[in-house]
Amino acid sequence: MNFPGKLKTCFISIFVVAVVTAFILMYACSNKACRQSVSAMSFVTSLRTPSNAREASKTSTSVVKAYPFDIEGNDVIVFLHIQKTGGTKFGKHLVKNLDIKSPCECIPKRKKCTCERPNSKNIWLFSRYSLGWPCGLHADWTELQACVPRYMNSHEGKKPKRKYLYVTILREPVSRFVSEFHCYQRGATWKNSLHTCNGRVPSKKELPPCYKGQNWTDVTLPEFLGCFSNLAFNRQTRMLADLKLVGCYDTKAMPRDQREKILLDSAKKNLESMAYFALVEHQTESQYLFEKTFGMKFRHSFVQLSVEETRAGAITVDKQNLTRIQELNSLDIKLYSFAKKLFFERLEYFKSKGSSQIEDSYD
Ligand SMILES: *[C@@H]1O[C@H](CO)[C@@H](O)[C@H](O)[C@H]1NC(C)=O
Ligand SMILES: *[C@@H]1O[C@H](CO)[C@@H](O)[C@H](O)[C@H]1NC(C)=O
Repeated sequence: MNFPGKLKTCFISIFVVAVVTAFILMYACSNKACRQSVSAMSFVTSLRTPSNAREASKTSTSVVKAYPFDIEGNDVIVFLHIQKTGGTKFGKHLVKNLDIKSPCECIPKRKKCTCERPNSKNIWLFSRYSLGWPCGLHADWTELQACVPRYMNSHEGKKPKRKYLYVTILREPVSRFVSEFHCYQRGATWKNSLHTCNGRVPSKKELPPCYKGQNWTDVTLPEFLGCFSNLAFNRQTRMLADLKLVGCYDTKAMPRDQREKILLDSAKKNLESMAYFALVEHQTESQYLFEKTFGMKFRHSFVQLSVEETRAGAITVDKQNLTRIQELNSLDIKLYSFAKKLFFERLEYFKSKGSSQIEDSYD
């Protein structure tokens, strides 16, 4: 490539990044204070990781399945949204970007869209941008399992029996953790989360607050790491596990290593039984997997973050703090490694299945 060509590419890249960043600024985070931290991850073009795909295709233990989405039937997509995993953006794709017969109707400036089936008032999407947080702010697996059917039955009646298709999006745990830390520093608290488990919310003794007053804006990283009841630790594992198996938030219900093993195993199992999950680091692949799994296409392509940008906050952490973060999130690190393997297994399955079709435009 000659010099002027390079210069041109450079300008185009800057322009694209600027436009997309502005877009993210507007949409990425509902919490005003927390917008800046997400905007720090500017968006760059598609990223491929063929080595991951190859590595993952080896071990096939689970059955990969398609769940052709029946929007006129009784299928309901339930989006489990874990904090700081790119879930806001993914949630927007679900309400605004699907190329389907009966897309959600979104009114500008209004947060919630209406996602009804083509010939009825019944809904096909259970997510923040369709219903708000009827099961509590950032409800986890335990809360959704107990609450979603109850909510749906009370709004639409018990019959016919619905099929709940759970979806979620995961993120590399150290980056996610650091991102959550920055969010607290900017005033986010998620204190309206309920953490309901086994029919009750945890007591103050089970879940002592990490800070006094309204927020934790003055927190330093060592302080953040030092609060033993900090829900940022292993958040992805905890939010995907069935907490009833470990006595909910009562950490004295069993020895710690037993609790951790059960949590991790449960999170893996629940992730595996989800119809679909995405990885924030692999947007293009996540889009492809969604389209193949549900037989629905998106109108506009997912935009990929570069590795530098998905890891933006985490890069600035010194070695000692980093090691501590890794220790405190060891379950999430194991879960993420499991998730990655499973993700590429699912991807390989659909790629090999679809390779004979001419219309397959992925490669
Ligand atoms: C954080 O709490 C303090 C009082 O404790 C308050 O003055 C401040 O406005 C709050 N900041 C945010 C961003 O909510
Ligand atoms: C961790 O980070 C803080 C500031 O964010 C710094 O003061 C401290 O020296 C770092 N290392 C350790 C071991 O706390």
